[in-house]
Amino acid sequence: MLTSEQRQQQQRVILVTGANKGLGFEVVKKLITEPSSFKNDLILLGSRDLKRGQGAIKLLGSPSNVHLLQLDTSSRNSIAQATNEIKQKYGGQLDVLINNAGILTHEKTVDAARNVFATNYYGIRTLNEHLSPLIKENGRIVNVASEVGAWALYEMSSDLQKKYQSSTLTKEQLDTLVEDFISAIGSNRLEKLGYNSKLPYLIYGTSKAALIALTRVEAREWSGAQNVLVLSVTPGLCKTDIIDHAPGARSAELGADSILFPVNAPTNELENGQFYEDGQQKPQSCACTKNLEHLSKKQE
Ligand SMILES: NC(=O)c1ccc[n+]([C@@H]2O[C@H](COP(=O)([O-])OP(=O)(O)OC[C@H]3O[C@@H](n4cnc5c(N)ncnc54)[C@H](OP(=O)(O)O)[C@@H]3O)[C@@H](O)[C@H]2O)c1
Repeated sequence: MLTSEQRQQQQRVILVTGANKGLGFEVVKKLITEPSSFKNDLILLGSRDLKRGQGAIKLLGSPSNVHLLQLDTSSRNSIAQATNEIKQKYGGQLDVLINNAGILTHEKTVDAARNVFATNYYGIRTLNEHLSPLIKENGRIVNVASEVGAWALYEMSSDLQKKYQSSTLTKEQLDTLVEDFISAIGSNRLEKLGYNSKLPYLIYGTSKAALIALTRVEAREWSGAQNVLVLSVTPGLCKTDIIDHAPGARSAELGADSILFPVNAPTNELENGQFYEDGQQKPQSCACTKNLEHLSKKQE
């Protein structure tokens, strides 16, 4: 529980989901160690597993401004509990929410897709609905997507691309696109719907394309009076567990810098709803220029 003095002294309250390891952990580490004008940030380190979260905090040296928040982003129950905890223990307000938790699959089944979308799309959609009312004026929601999402969008038929990129897209329409994609995996109708079924990481990429699209919809819905920005970002290909520390990938520290750009950049350097990498706005659909062979060994 925070004292009122602590609340007054701190400058920002930041929640990072999936921060017990990998990029989320690096983001928290940078927030507490790098010299910045925000030394008093209160960080909520999200972890679905209490022990792994406690271990991460210990590894950081148990700083007094980092608190563990148990949060499984694929579970509505866990999201509701974490929301209550933020209200009861941390003053019910957030400056920044970093939706970092994410998973990848090497399978191409309906079950695998359900699992991936539960965290990479529906989890973020639900968490943002719970927490957006708690975001303070001038606050930010940063959705960690991937360049694989932009590649997946580029590989879709032009009709399907238009649907994902429509300026009037609603969350319900996006849910329908997602549900149609998942069921087409089971009925072998991916090509008919306009997806490239041969694309490496198709399920992961489509979940991130949906997240990039969701970011634009949320930006449209939640900008306005509170001046909240909703942005998506890619850390670039980084050596973490999700890609088995693939050779050729860059360090998690650089990936964390990319994630922190839309967190720390002045408002006039950002465009609401847009997609960023290393401080630059990125196209939401682009051709893959990387050799994915070493990463796709595990694909079926
Ligand atoms: N590394 C890359 O090359 C790369 C590139 C582009 C985008 N990204 C994105 O960056 C984000 C972080 O990935 P990473 O590279 O740091 O991978 P990572 O090392 O595998 O870490 C993923 C983190 O997310 C957590 N997580 C997964 N599902 C969760 C859930 N349902 N609820 C709460 N936490 C959950 C994991 O917790 P557990 O320890 O409990 O599993 C772990 O802390 C992901 O969204 C990923 O898609 C990564």
